Amino acid sequence: MTKEIQILDKTFVSAISEAEISAAVDKVAGQIMNDYADKNPLFLMILNGAFMFAADLLKRVTIPATLASIKLSSYEGMLTTGEVREVIGLTEDVKGRHIIIIEDIVDTGTTMHCLIPDLKARGAASVEICTFLQKPEALIFPDAQPKYVGFEINNLFVIGYGLDYDGYARNLPEVYMIKK
Ligand code: IMP
Repeated sequence: MTKEIQILDKTFVSAISEAEISAAVDKVAGQIMNDYADKNPLFLMILNGAFMFAADLLKRVTIPATLASIKLSSYEGMLTTGEVREVIGLTEDVKGRHIIIIEDIVDTGTTMHCLIPDLKARGAASVEICTFLQKPEALIFPDAQPKYVGFEINNLFVIGYGLDYDGYARNLPEVYMIKK
């Protein structure tokens, strides 16, 4: 059954259930464990949006791995500003590490396009993106194409499971999309 919720001035409708999310996280965790079994990857969580996906994903990853986080921001309300501000910098030494970026959503790819060269310049052995959601139609930068994707979605604004509208709705356990 479709559920509706009101967040500030906007109405959203349910789009991806908790059960569907759980199955997608299982799938992605399995792919990563296959590909990185002997690589001791460094998971780099992008705050705030990826916190819920990262927690669920990492509970399922049983190969040796470490975790670091940075806080990036490129959105204001429902519009991308086109510019990425690094809010909390990376303190971890990434030299020689196989990095898996954990992102909530890849939209235009601007955020990842700005971050990946920086990680490579710091000496990362490899960099891949693992994102909960992707809007393939919105992608501008080919180097921001994620290797691991929970769900591909239409080019519509979504909230929940870490994703926010003006800071609200990150705590919702399922995904809602803007009502057309
Ligand atoms: P990109 O740099 O255009 O790929 O945008 C990536 C960032 O924009 C994500 O990490 C989110 O924080 C934000 N974002 C993009 N689309 C949405 C959306 O539909 N809902 C909430 N945040 C979004």
